[in-house]
Amino acid sequence: MPTTEEEFFSEKRPWSRMKDRILGSYLTPYLAKLAHLGRRILLVDAFAGPGVFADGSTGSPVMFCEVAEKQAPNQYRAIFVNSDAASHQALSTKLQPLIQQHRVATVCGSAGDMLRNLGATALTKDTLFLYLDPFGLKGCEFSKIEPILKRPQSVSTEVLINISVPTIDRLSTKNAIATGRATGQTSSLNALLTEVLGGEYWKDILWKGGGPEDVIAEYCARLRSYLPYVASCPVRESEQTAIKYFMILCSRHEDAIDLMNDIMRAAYQERMHEALTDGTLFAGTSWKVDRQVPELDRFIVQKLSPGERPSRKRLRIALIQDHFMVYSNSEWNKAIGRLCKKNGPLDFDDVRKTGRLNDESLIFLK
Ligand SMILES: C[S@@+](CC[C@H](N)C(=O)[O-])C[C@H]1O[C@@H](n2cnc3c(N)ncnc32)[C@H](O)[C@@H]1O
Repeated sequence: MPTTEEEFFSEKRPWSRMKDRILGSYLTPYLAKLAHLGRRILLVDAFAGPGVFADGSTGSPVMFCEVAEKQAPNQYRAIFVNSDAASHQALSTKLQPLIQQHRVATVCGSAGDMLRNLGATALTKDTLFLYLDPFGLKGCEFSKIEPILKRPQSVSTEVLINISVPTIDRLSTKNAIATGRATGQTSSLNALLTEVLGGEYWKDILWKGGGPEDVIAEYCARLRSYLPYVASCPVRESEQTAIKYFMILCSRHEDAIDLMNDIMRAAYQERMHEALTDGTLFAGTSWKVDRQVPELDRFIVQKLSPGERPSRKRLRIALIQDHFMVYSNSEWNKAIGRLCKKNGPLDFDDVRKTGRLNDESLIFLK
């Protein structure tokens, strides 16, 4: 019987590719921007894996290094943690040149210990990007993440977490509860879920007929009380199959949600389109369609109060927060542009004096 480790890393599954696409697409603009600011950047992948799958595809630690070497070669340090000794060994071999240059450190240990150290030490001045991608939920207890979410406002902190939906279901023991079969064992599973989610709120949701997406919405609300911009994307094989994970990014910076709206939307739509068209005449076609979205006009006008003058970017981000992943950034920009035309209800102040609407233009109701 193969171990979970062997099974998982034997080949990259469609949902793993979707996770990679989100991580890879985000890291490039994220690191490019941070490199520009000139600060030291610490990248931590606390559940790293061996770095290479048996089918040759690369895992997250290798992706981190490839992007960091391109975007911020002299500014980053990466720490990769593995509790599995064989994965630690394989990753250390793969990244040997970068380890020798002191850009990368591989650690054979537990993610929990790493999080405790990160939370407690003087790494507080470094920009931090933390990736948590466990098999289940163990190691992602809220109390372990909280000190990182609480880092000072003056430093950049971003945390990307994959929350496993089947594990939420299993730990909730909702069938046992519904049929009055709660035991000591169900209580300890429930206690772990409470620790991971940072409260017992999930009981009111899952034991009363709510779904995992409702629990995730509440979990995101908790994260938002530490880091205000939280983006969450369901990861699944197709619309017909259950959600495997929610991939959740939390950040103090609005650019995170601005970028993730397009990145998560594209990764999700692309995978759903692939699943739908696989084996048909439409296989390999683009998921993108030029669609009409007249409803955006109403959302935009309703979002603005008389006298308010947000920049186009601020306005778009506020709208993205209300309708995450539903519309693309360019659909929002086009709709704002349409509404600023001569007979439209909006106008703009051309702050940069470019003669054109751009992200800095101030938008207001006529
Ligand atoms: C889902 S895999 C990570 C996959 C990786 N992100 C990738 O894209 O290639 C989870 C990894 O975390 C390791 N792991 C499990 N529990 C751990 C713990 N408590 N601390 C550190 N690593 C752990 C597992 O052995 C496994 O290699």
